[in-house]
Amino acid sequence: MHKIIVTGGAGYIGSHTVVSLINSGFEPIVVDDFSNSQRDSIKRIEKIVGQSIRFYEANTADINSFERVFAENEQIAGIIHFAAFKAVKESVDKPLMYYKNNLVSLLNCIELSEKYKVKNLVFSSSATVYGNPAELPVSEQTPTQRPSSPYGNTKKIGEEILEDYCKANPDFNAIILRYFNPIGAHVSGLIGELPNGVPNNLMPFITQTAYGLREKLSVFGNDYDTADGTALRDYVHVEDVADAHVLTLQRLVDKKNTENYEFYNLGTGKGTSVIEIIAAFEKVNDLKLNFTFEPRRAGDVPELFASTKKANEILKFKSKKSLEDMASSAWKWEKRFRDAQKNSK
Ligand code: NAD
Ligand code: WQD
Repeated sequence: MHKIIVTGGAGYIGSHTVVSLINSGFEPIVVDDFSNSQRDSIKRIEKIVGQSIRFYEANTADINSFERVFAENEQIAGIIHFAAFKAVKESVDKPLMYYKNNLVSLLNCIELSEKYKVKNLVFSSSATVYGNPAELPVSEQTPTQRPSSPYGNTKKIGEEILEDYCKANPDFNAIILRYFNPIGAHVSGLIGELPNGVPNNLMPFITQTAYGLREKLSVFGNDYDTADGTALRDYVHVEDVADAHVLTLQRLVDKKNTENYEFYNLGTGKGTSVIEIIAAFEKVNDLKLNFTFEPRRAGDVPELFASTKKANEILKFKSKKSLEDMASSAWKWEKRFRDAQKNSK
């Protein structure tokens, strides 16, 4: 069984990926410091998979605390590196905190891989590296741009660090996955997205509004040059994103990668507007959402969606879940989580 270190494995995408890894016969070793997740997330993953998982509470930006994971586990087949801070707005106010956590954590992954002879790494990047692209859909050939936030820039710089390192170290393999907009939750409703404080992202804001935690959703901008005037994004189900990591690791452990540095878009290939998301959410969950139109949010691009050709042809990745699946699972998770919180009080 291939042992895989999963940094940030208690978080949103990480927890779903740990489930997919176990279901596909990999042995994840989760590393998290719970800076943006709950201890309970580990228990909930265990409930889904029906087995206990190996877990370390450690800070990946602190090499001494992180090294224990490598020292105590032999023959690590690869690392999936999710651990990072990800709040765009916070990164504008606290750039040092973002550069330090996100870049030092990545550097530590590389340094410890070198020391413990781990040959494969999957890195969580973001569609934000494309900035505001001139052409849509964005393919992997679309030039990257300097992202508008320090958070986004940690992803662009992270990719560049790996590219340079791979060039100098031909026996080390990295695959970069550029996620578009992962939303939704595990079909069980046991794990899902749980942002700290007021959500920045659309779907958690919708589910929290539906639950009554927020008074209303502000739709940022209805004067874009799109069919209904609201911005388009490529929303992709988090379970599909999780499965893509399994395909990516399989490619690495089977040594099928043709280059030692590869990068792929992870999306559905379809642009969906904010209004379409709201409509799908209301319909599939049979409820009404309170929302108003507000001015555009600074830094937002009008449209961003992926060409999925490369991931489809090479990784054999194809998203399977619909917008309705995303909207219903996100609501199932939010409702279940909040109801349980209420009942435990
Ligand atoms: P998340 O915050 O839910 O998960 C990240 C996890 O990493 C959390 O559990 C957090 O506690 C942990 N973590 C952070 N810093 C750490 C450190 N120094 N040491 C140990 N653990 C640490 O975020 P997510 O949505 O699951 O995102 C996972 C990755 O994907 C991140 O790198 C993020 O930047 C990237 N990404 C996310 C999205 C998205 O929309 N969710 C889009 C593009 C890229
Ligand atoms: C989606 C759409 C908003 C909230 C960000 C990061 C990106 C990646 C994914 C991490 C936009 C609109 C939102 C709200 C709204 N993250 N919206 N009201 O901005 O595409 O991408 O998350 O790596 O790097 O930049 O996602 O969910 O914030 O917004 O109208 O309360 O929903 O304007 O059009 P975004 P989002």
